[in-house]
Amino acid sequence: REPIRVALLGCGTVGTEVVRLLQEHPTEYAARTGAPVRVTGVAVRRPHKHPDVPEQLLTTDAAALVEGSADVIVELIGGIEPARSLLLAALRAGKSVVTANKALLAEHGSELYAAADANGVDIYFEAAVAGAIPLLRPLRESLAGDRINRVTGIVNGTSNYILSAMDSTGAGYEETLEEANRLGYAEADPTADVDGFDAASKAAILASLAFHTRVGAGDVHREGISGIGAGDIEAARSLNRTVKLLAICERVIDEDGTESVSARVHPAMIPRDHPLAGVGGAFNAVFVEAESAGQLMFYGQGAGGAPTASAVLGDLVAAARNVVVSGKGPRESAHAQLPARAMDWT
Ligand code: NDP
Ligand code: HSE
Repeated sequence: REPIRVALLGCGTVGTEVVRLLQEHPTEYAARTGAPVRVTGVAVRRPHKHPDVPEQLLTTDAAALVEGSADVIVELIGGIEPARSLLLAALRAGKSVVTANKALLAEHGSELYAAADANGVDIYFEAAVAGAIPLLRPLRESLAGDRINRVTGIVNGTSNYILSAMDSTGAGYEETLEEANRLGYAEADPTADVDGFDAASKAAILASLAFHTRVGAGDVHREGISGIGAGDIEAARSLNRTVKLLAICERVIDEDGTESVSARVHPAMIPRDHPLAGVGGAFNAVFVEAESAGQLMFYGQGAGGAPTASAVLGDLVAAARNVVVSGKGPRESAHAQLPARAMDWT
């Protein structure tokens, strides 16, 4: 079969890992999608900063790449513009889109989904919330037959990294933020992390999926961690508590039975034996309470190049598979690739 052509917009912390993994395991991606997956272009701002990407693939003209022959567009630029215009152009040209851009989805999700629907294509965004953790598909699909009442999560790796280090080693706020930046956890503008904007975008996406409604970033009450000092951490410790930045989305039922959704992000002192208290470093954890399923906990690496690339590539395989079968929705894997063998448990 003809290869699936993929255009990559942005090749930073996450994009670099996506390119590396596609280059390292081409036969596996071909087997899983039913066709070779070929990167046909990589749009960046500064081509000279990308010696590991074949020169002929690099371009500074992202719009031309979107207009070109690619079947799937993977957006890893971040921010609102030019990402929004590029993705609208891709969807209007009938191309499926994979993105990790929570800020864009929380602010312009309705416009993007409408463009996707109108053109019979999909937007895949598992990487947009909680990095590597498979969370959005379970909320949207596996739990679609249940009634979710509350979603509580640590969804910003940078803030959690800072708060965990302040709590465990007494490290200072500024030095820990610098380290989170160096490790590739922080956003291009890290105030998005420490002031709660990133977590608020994620809360909006989580609330929209969990409650089958549309919640925007502006609907989320937001408070970050930049005002938290060593004294607050110490006060929490003296109460056998720890400070975490929480995103809380819940179904609210008024006395007259009217239902609405509340979403908020703020630091909270939680007991040290709470399931979320032990979540350290840039890890994320999301606690879901549903009427029939009861309590569910999702845990894993919430930030960083390789963990996020894992989620992006999962979406890319799904998008490419759908191009192969020319349909919509998840499909079974194309072929088993590894021979089966009996397991020896002794
Ligand atoms: P980076 O800042 O590391 O990379 C951004 C990339 O986009 C760079 O390669 C940059 O080019 C390129 N770029 C910026 N503007 C343009 C433009 N106008 N045209 C073409 N290319 C452009 O971001 P990340 O990889 O960290 O994040 C990408 C997305 O993934 C964001 O939406 C982020 O929120 C999301 N995300 C990130 C996670 C993480 O842990 N880092 C985790 C989960 C989601 P150049 O390199 O030349 O400057
Ligand atoms: N800056 C984000 C964080 C990246 O720290 O969680 C993952 O979305």
